Amino acid sequence: MPDLPFTFTLPTPELIPSHYDNHIQRRLSALKGQFLDEKAYAEMLGREDTLLYEVYEITRPQAAGELLTGLSVVHPGKVGGEFFMTKGHFHAVLETAEVYLCLKGEGFMVMENPEGECVVERLAPGKVLYVPPRWAHRSVCTSRQEDLVTFFIYPGNSGHDYGTIEQQGFRKLVMDSPAGIVIVDNPRWNKK
Ligand code: PA5
Ligand code: NI
Repeated sequence: MPDLPFTFTLPTPELIPSHYDNHIQRRLSALKGQFLDEKAYAEMLGREDTLLYEVYEITRPQAAGELLTGLSVVHPGKVGGEFFMTKGHFHAVLETAEVYLCLKGEGFMVMENPEGECVVERLAPGKVLYVPPRWAHRSVCTSRQEDLVTFFIYPGNSGHDYGTIEQQGFRKLVMDSPAGIVIVDNPRWNKK
């Protein structure tokens, strides 16, 4: 039987989809080894396995021709001086792209490709970001009180390669500093 078109809405102010199939919650323990300040990480984890971000997914077949969509919500907060962020990943099928639409909050998308190029793009409501094939991506919430909410669309056959980032990290970090938000080189990039 053929699929039928479907709709859902993103009701304000929360923007949680009116229909979704999966609700993923990722906590501090899922980002072991990613935050620069290991002491602050361990202390925070000792107090509570804090919720960093949530993803609401619409399930579709993981096949070429399909599109996977959903909502990503990164909560405000910091580990040491580093803002809460997603794990980040390459797509397992490296030659697949992704589109993000920022709906709420403020932050950055940190991106890099295996060729060593990196781009850190600011996210703000109304901004559309095209992540080309080959670029790993991680969202970072830099607001002090508001969630960073993005809607994403990517090919059904993309898959996720989390292992490469777990092992090497991203080349750039988004940090708070007395001078404001700064983007710095990751001194631990690929040092594991
Ligand atoms: O497909 C994407 O890139 C997003 O849906 C992310 O999966 C989402 O933002 C959560 O990040 P991660 O998958 O890196 O945990
Ligand atoms: Ni992705």
